[in-house]
Amino acid sequence: MKAVGIVGSPRKNGNTEILTKHTLKAIAEEGIETELVRLAGLDIRPCDACSACDNEESCPIDDDLFPIYTKMKEADAIILASPVYFGSATSLLKALMERTGSLAHRNRRRFEGKVGGPLVVARRAGHNFTLAQLLYWFQILGFFTPGSTYWNVAFGRNKGEVENDEEGLTTAWNFGKNIAFLVNKLKT
Ligand SMILES: Cc1cc2nc3c(=O)[nH]c(=O)nc-3n(C[C@H](O)[C@H](O)[C@H](O)COP(=O)(O)O)c2cc1C
Repeated sequence: MKAVGIVGSPRKNGNTEILTKHTLKAIAEEGIETELVRLAGLDIRPCDACSACDNEESCPIDDDLFPIYTKMKEADAIILASPVYFGSATSLLKALMERTGSLAHRNRRRFEGKVGGPLVVARRAGHNFTLAQLLYWFQILGFFTPGSTYWNVAFGRNKGEVENDEEGLTTAWNFGKNIAFLVNKLKT
């Protein structure tokens, strides 16, 4: 059993990554393998509406997406994590959502029945919209999305500041525990 946490920040070792690692640690404690995937530095372009994935499970855009799509298909649980950029998920994560969402949706609904959910970090505002934006992706693709003890949001601006948001960390931790619980229930 495996959980993959995809970090949509272009900044390595930032708040989103710290929060995602925290959730993955909670999951790993329950005997599930985990992997963190950083989008920072990768070339992930937006969907160009060519519709090639209507006919086959491939994408003609030659960039870094497909190995990540393969990891997502192999995972039992997927976490999408984003900082808020101008009230929204980052364009990097959005590009991944468009392309992997189209590939999965049009090819035997590849993500159907997986477990997953969002994590969102911001300095001050835009968490709610971004959380909803990510949840839209999970819902249409047929994921089971467990909750936590609060909505999956945390506060922080400069690298590491999220460590000061005790409630945000606890929420991310409990979210990980609920993901692990559900994965273990579904697989046994
Ligand atoms: C281009 C840009 C846009 C941002 N927009 C927002 C915003 O709309 N609301 C907010 O509260 N913080 C905003 N921030 C702050 C980030 O969400 C915050 O610094 C976050 O912790 C970054 O996560 P990271 O360390 O994982 O990159 C923005 C930061 C950048 C660089």
